[in-house]
Amino acid sequence: MNKKKLNTLAKQLSLSPKGILAADESTKTITKRFESIDLESTFENRRKYRELLFKTEGLEKFISGIILYDETINQKTSDGQLFPEYLIKKGISPGIKVDTGAIQINQNSSEKITEGLDGLNVRLKKYKELGAEFTKWRAIIEIGDSLPSDYCIEYNAYLLGRYAKIVQQHDLVPIVEPEVLMDGDHTIQECFDVTAKTLKLVFDNLNYHNVFMGGILLKPNMILSGKKCKNQATIETVASMTIKCLNENVPSDVPGIVFLSGGQSNEVATQHLNEMNLKFNNLPWNLSFSYGRALQQPSILSWKGSDSNTTTSQKKLIKRSELNSQATMGDYRIESENASL
Ligand code: 13P
Repeated sequence: MNKKKLNTLAKQLSLSPKGILAADESTKTITKRFESIDLESTFENRRKYRELLFKTEGLEKFISGIILYDETINQKTSDGQLFPEYLIKKGISPGIKVDTGAIQINQNSSEKITEGLDGLNVRLKKYKELGAEFTKWRAIIEIGDSLPSDYCIEYNAYLLGRYAKIVQQHDLVPIVEPEVLMDGDHTIQECFDVTAKTLKLVFDNLNYHNVFMGGILLKPNMILSGKKCKNQATIETVASMTIKCLNENVPSDVPGIVFLSGGQSNEVATQHLNEMNLKFNNLPWNLSFSYGRALQQPSILSWKGSDSNTTTSQKKLIKRSELNSQATMGDYRIESENASL
């Protein structure tokens, strides 16, 4: 394992003023997104949409890396360049989602276990040849009546540890993503407690698997009130409880923390990140974003599958990328949302 290489890349990917764009929706998920604009999810429409995102002019000023999906990493621009090749030339690091999705733990439970270790070594070799420099694996933890179970957290944490170890052996940076979902009516304190327990077990398992902490990125949820909770915490409370949870559970030698947006509105996801970077200085890790929905949503809605909307859609992506870039420096102002576009 080339520790220096992993550490340099992990720092670079999470270093302000840049963050990561998650464009690794599975075919099932992107099909759902396309349904919202009444567009058929064909191989070519998916390619076209990803090309629109990647070819956005100036994206590299705000975006350090883009996470791709298995289909996407094998697709090409309209002028015949493989997407990862195109991104590298543009100064953006290509990453790849390597888990193969989550399945129910058992028939009577909504809890899920993420799969993807089978054949991982072979896939990593192929992805590396295609140009991938980092990877992602997402585990899902649900809060509900007597959930999450210890089994769900422990088994997912174990798999994240093994995944990260294998990935580092290929000199790729693993993004470790344990997502505690915001669905439900739980309080912010419950989210704090479940996230703290999850992070503790994740780092126990990363250590158990002898993962090099200086060569990973953590992609956690923020500490939020459940979507249906009557008492929605303020921006300030979310920021301070998130930082408290991370300070207590994330080793200081982890180079960067890149949040997922997880169903927050675009503006709120930006406000939360901004508040953390504004109020908390001298944190041991870089604090940035790795958003999917909160970066792409305005683009996809304005694209509607039509070439005539490509420029408008790209402007929407640049706007969200720039505003989140400002949030990595604590420089975002809500008034900027009303600026043109
Ligand atoms: P969201 O920002 O839409 O939560 O997606 C990030 C991601 O990559 C989930 O795995």
